[in-house]
Amino acid sequence: MNATRSTDIAHRGKAMPERFPMALIVLHWVIAACIIAMLAIGLYMVGLPRGVPFKAALINFHKSLGLTVFLLVLMRIGVLMVSGRPPLPPMRAWQRAAASATQVLLYAAMVAMPVTGYLGSSFNTYGTRFWGMLLPKWGWDDKALRHFWFTLHEIVAWVFIAMIALHVAGALKHQLIDRDGLLRRMLP
Ligand code: HEM
Repeated sequence: MNATRSTDIAHRGKAMPERFPMALIVLHWVIAACIIAMLAIGLYMVGLPRGVPFKAALINFHKSLGLTVFLLVLMRIGVLMVSGRPPLPPMRAWQRAAASATQVLLYAAMVAMPVTGYLGSSFNTYGTRFWGMLLPKWGWDDKALRHFWFTLHEIVAWVFIAMIALHVAGALKHQLIDRDGLLRRMLP
């Protein structure tokens, strides 16, 4: 059965829509859980008072998990390029454009968050530890550059939160209003 026909049938609710490959399903949910945790930890830890040991431990954990997420995202992009993904079901042109734009922005944010966080962390005296291992230090202590990258890190975080909210709202609309089984394509 070709892809267009399978999604047409799925849209009428008569058959299971074409699914994502299992590797992409696993990566989607693992990365989603890590990113939600990273956003919550990031917003919480910046509000903690300076010099508290718990803050330093949390920042180190945030850096290690963030770099791990980056590796998982690179893996996800690699799998996506090799295996492809099922096409979007039939929908209005503006909905298709909105869904594609949200997905492109989500991928851009998944790459930009760890990159800006790592760059910001590179322009201080501490360097970056990855699960305890000190990564090669190539940056220098530079308040202006640090401020630049961390401001971008914060702006991208809020754009990311808005995109995640739109993405979840779209998935819920398909599940509860359209009832077209779209969510099942991403369930194990
Ligand atoms: C998925 C990846 C990541 C997410 C979602 C994320 C999210 C966040 C958020 C929401 C904040 C708070 C921003 C603010 O309100 O100022 C933050 C701060 C921070 N992040 Fe990340 N982050 C990620 C990756 C990283 C990485 C890889 C590093 C470093 C290797 C990093 C280092 C930091 C540091 C040091 C801060 C505190 C910045 C400051 O003191 O102003 N982050 N992060």
